[in-house]
Amino acid sequence: MLQKSKILLIDDELESCKALSHLLGQVGYEVEISHSGEDALKLLKERPFNLIISDLFLPGISGIDILKQIKDDSPETGVILITGKASAETAVEAMKEGALDYITKPFNFERLKIQVTKALEKNRLVLENNYLRQQLHGRYHFDNIIGTSQAMQQVFRLMGKVTGTDSTILILGASGTGKELVARAIHYNSPRKNKPFLAINCGAIPADLLESELFGHVKGAFTSAFADKPGKFEVADGGTMFLDEIGNMPQQLQVKLLRVLQEHEFERVGSSLKTHLNIRLISATNVDIQEQVKTGQFREDLYYRLNVIPIHLPALKERRGDIPQLARFFTEKICKEMDRPLISIGTDAMQAMESYEWPGNVREMENIIERTIALTDNMIIGCEELPSDIGTRLPSSALSAPQMTSEGVDMNKIIATIERAMIQQAMGLGQGVKARAANLLKINRTTLVEKIKRLGMEI
Ligand SMILES: Nc1ncnc2c1ncn2[C@@H]1O[C@H](COP(=O)(O)OP(=O)(O)OP(=O)(O)O)[C@@H](O)[C@H]1O
Ligand SMILES: [Mg+2]
Repeated sequence: MLQKSKILLIDDELESCKALSHLLGQVGYEVEISHSGEDALKLLKERPFNLIISDLFLPGISGIDILKQIKDDSPETGVILITGKASAETAVEAMKEGALDYITKPFNFERLKIQVTKALEKNRLVLENNYLRQQLHGRYHFDNIIGTSQAMQQVFRLMGKVTGTDSTILILGASGTGKELVARAIHYNSPRKNKPFLAINCGAIPADLLESELFGHVKGAFTSAFADKPGKFEVADGGTMFLDEIGNMPQQLQVKLLRVLQEHEFERVGSSLKTHLNIRLISATNVDIQEQVKTGQFREDLYYRLNVIPIHLPALKERRGDIPQLARFFTEKICKEMDRPLISIGTDAMQAMESYEWPGNVREMENIIERTIALTDNMIIGCEELPSDIGTRLPSSALSAPQMTSEGVDMNKIIATIERAMIQQAMGLGQGVKARAANLLKINRTTLVEKIKRLGMEI
């Protein structure tokens, strides 16, 4: 059943209070009455209300004082003030202090009903917005970025240091390593968290549109500019702007961006009116931007402006130790999303994942786990359920000698294949530490190093 909206009515005139409460009750609201400001503030401390309707002139604490107190304690609660002596001045004062509306006695009940409906709708939207914001903040809590490897701990340390600042950040990392996740987490843990976070993919928008997308335009600036339009820099005012794939930003825009960053001002395309820039800039790239600087594709001066604090996100294969925890994190998250009981990952499947190369990094893992869970009926994911390039780690048949034929078999080749697969697994389980891998393979470290070299493995 839908919960009734709760209204607190504060009025020292018993009769009018009773009449109003009765009428609002008939509309379907739950109304509580308070005859003094003191009593009302006590009630407000005890339980929340969706709307306060208060007389302006009360003995003791006045309607305006109640309004001020509410704005401090629970700004989402709307306040409508009532007065018998209609006076424009008090109305203005009340609105300035944040009252939603102002009504005069005797009531025009039809009008009051509309005012109350509007105020409650506003309260609902604010509560909904607060709830969504909380959810969002929770999603980008540092705890939801998985990684206990040294490389990730280093990333967390750096993130912790920069969240409280406004410094410009450049996130570097291969595709799917979590660049956008880190950018959002920095924003939602920063003082700008209640302002917008806007992302723009510099590689996905044609060069001529990107400028207007970023800076906006005025009517007539170009043929299809039929009306004024603010750009992302304006919309993100006070918040964070995430420029993704910055390496793909066209040269002429690189010049403009540099100027904007230097002058902290920008103008819409086709206008000379300058607007002050108040955003935090985070950019990201998965290409070797230093190489682009060397070849002249990316302006060196802009690179230095953007690269105030670089954050390097390691590829997943460089932090294999994080794989089991990430896999469990996604399994749990996806089972919850699909409303299924928690599925676990079998030892074999986990080992296969630990030795896989993950060219698409964390995103690839998330996708594979999602697909596997969607397709399985089992409670434990087995190796054979993973895509074949992951699932075929060391097939047990490889351990039995292949069938000899009259043409013979290349024994060295077969042994090398087996050796390679076993070394890869051991390195995965040993989190990339050769001594540990050697231990698992029951050979000594020097032998392992020699084998890796002889087999031409890149480890
Ligand atoms: N350390 C992590 N912990 C939990 N989830 C992660 C982690 N890293 C990445 N993810 C998840 O993996 C997916 C890909 O991450 P994201 O989009 O941030 O990567 P990206 O580096 O921006 O990739 P691309 O270069 O392809 O745009 C997202 O769903 C993200 O939530
Ligand atoms: Mg991305």
